[in-house]
Amino acid sequence: MMEENPKLFGLVGHPVQHSLSPLMHNAVFKKLGLNHSYSAFDIKKDDLGVFLDRCRDGNFLGLNITIPYKVDVIRYLDSLDEKAKLVNAVNTIKFEDKIISGYNTDGLGCVRALEEAGEKIKGKRILILGAGGAARAIAFQCSLEGAELVISNRTMEKAMKLSKEIREKLGKRTLVVNFSESSIREIISTTDILINTTSVGMHPKVRRSPIATDVLDPELTVMDIVYNPIETQLLKNAKRAGCKTIDGIGMLVHQGAESLRIWLDIKAPIDVMRRVIVEKLK
Ligand code: ATR
Repeated sequence: MMEENPKLFGLVGHPVQHSLSPLMHNAVFKKLGLNHSYSAFDIKKDDLGVFLDRCRDGNFLGLNITIPYKVDVIRYLDSLDEKAKLVNAVNTIKFEDKIISGYNTDGLGCVRALEEAGEKIKGKRILILGAGGAARAIAFQCSLEGAELVISNRTMEKAMKLSKEIREKLGKRTLVVNFSESSIREIISTTDILINTTSVGMHPKVRRSPIATDVLDPELTVMDIVYNPIETQLLKNAKRAGCKTIDGIGMLVHQGAESLRIWLDIKAPIDVMRRVIVEKLK
C-alpha cells in the first residue's frame, strides 16, 4: 500500500548530474512501498539559501548535501547534531516544523561498511590517506569508536590541522605521517586497516593508485571510498598482494541508509541499495 503523504527528498550540490543517490533512495522507497521521491538539484552557491527556504516551506522532509556545500550549508541551518558539530560539515538535513537540522552520516557510513565486512574498529590502527571532507568525517568517527589513527595527506598541513582538532575536541592523539612511499611503507607494517579517502583512482583516471603496490602487505585490510570504478587500481593491487579489500559502495550505501533513518526512522534495505548501484556502475 502506498504512503498517503508523499514527501520530497533530494541531493543538493554542484555538479550532481552523475550522482547515484536518486537511484539508490528511490529504489528504497519503491521496495518499501513508500510514495516519496528523491531528486538531484544542481544549485549555484548564491541560490543555496533561497533554495533551502523553498524546501522548508514546501513538502520536503530531507536533503543530502554534497560537494561543494557540506560546510557552506551550515550557516542556513537552525541546529546541528553532535557529529556534524565535531566534523564541521553536514551531508544530511532534515526539515521538521520549519526547523532545519544538520547531520553528518559519512563517518558512520564508513564504519558500518567496515563492520559489515567483518572489521572491528576498537583498538585497531587505521591509516587514513587524505584529509579532505570525507577524511574528516571518517577520522572523527573512527576515533570516537576507539581506533588508533594515522593520517597521511599530500598537503601535510591539512593532516596536521585535522590531527590537532581531534586532539582538542576528543582528547585523542593522532599520528601524522608524510605522504611519501618510505613513510607509508614504515607505518603500514603496524597498520590494520588502510582507508583511501583521496580522489586518486576515481573515474576517468582509473589507472592511478594513491600508494605503491609493494608497500601493501597481506595482513592489511584495504578500503577505498572511491566507488567509480567499483574495483579501483588500489583495490586491484591490494587483492593481488593478498589483502582483504572493501569497495566504496559500502560507505555510499550506509551513509544513505543512515540518512533514511534520520528522516523516516526506517531500517533501509542495504541489499537493494547495493544492487541498484552495482547494476548502474557495471
Ligand atoms: P572529499 O570531500 O571527497 O574528501 P576533498 O575535500 O576535495 O574531497 O579532498 C580530496 C582529498 O584527496 C584531499 O586529501 C586531497 O589532498 P590535498 O589536501 O593535498 O589536496 C586528496 N588528493 C586529491 N588529488 C590527489 C593526488 N593527485 N594525490 C594525492 N592526494 C590527492
